[in-house]
Amino acid sequence: MSSASDVVKTPLHVRTIDEVRQQIREWKQAGDRIAFVPTMGNLHAGHLSLIEAASKPDTRVVVSIFVNPMQFGEDEDFDKYPRTFDEDVDKLSKYGVDMVFSPVVSEIYPESIENATFVEVPKLSEILEGEHRPGFFKGVATVVNKLFNIVQPDVAVFGEKDYQQLLVIRQMVRDLSMPVEIQSVSIQREPDGLAMSSRNAYLDEENRILATAIQRGLKHLVEAIVAGENPTYEVGHACHELDEQGFVVDYIVVRRQQDLAVPEQGDKSLIVLAAARLGSVRLIDNIPFVLAD
Ligand code: PAF
Repeated sequence: MSSASDVVKTPLHVRTIDEVRQQIREWKQAGDRIAFVPTMGNLHAGHLSLIEAASKPDTRVVVSIFVNPMQFGEDEDFDKYPRTFDEDVDKLSKYGVDMVFSPVVSEIYPESIENATFVEVPKLSEILEGEHRPGFFKGVATVVNKLFNIVQPDVAVFGEKDYQQLLVIRQMVRDLSMPVEIQSVSIQREPDGLAMSSRNAYLDEENRILATAIQRGLKHLVEAIVAGENPTYEVGHACHELDEQGFVVDYIVVRRQQDLAVPEQGDKSLIVLAAARLGSVRLIDNIPFVLAD
């Protein structure tokens, strides 16, 4: 395995759970470690940074591409979520990925999704994203659990852009004693600061330029808090600024990095998180920071 190179190696493409299990068994018997990067496809440089982090000597890298219906709300974009399988495989071929698993929905949910067994991480799943996207983390935790059971990775890599998702998965792994190490990779940004996301493709030209205001707002918020300004006032100001530019702000908050609880006196490792809509496109971003003693 290596990072992007001129050597193109088409990954093994499998669609069934049996095929994955058989291949993984062979690799494990040969002494290889399994690193896993779950995705919903439409791969961009953010995903590729996860694959680079997964790529280590004696390690087979498995990428799943599965647009998971369980994590989409009724009025969300499941049907129109960009599906770009051929382009994705081209990108993965340059990263030496060993296997791409792209199951059909009935392979993952053989019965109706409504009646399927699920995994839910309490409390953490109910705040912020969970409050605005009911059922989202239930869908994420359930599919990631299933994918872990299928791929049986030693390590799985997730992006910090979906920071709350990362914490939900870490808690699930801890609570259920799953034998998987969870590794995370920091947000990849476009040259103008916009956090990379598959959903950026939905932005029209005007909104694509406007979208950078979220990251600027968060950066300013961090600088103000570090400089000792009043966080409540600064959050209000950041919301107002986005509002003025035509965003509908779902939340801008300052939380503790470890559990997304409201910070208490003495908490130093903090994170600002935002979710805001521009037209029909919902964007999220965050910046972790540490207060000096
Ligand atoms: O972050 C994502 O792309 C998805 O939520 C994940 C982790 C692949 C589960 O469907």
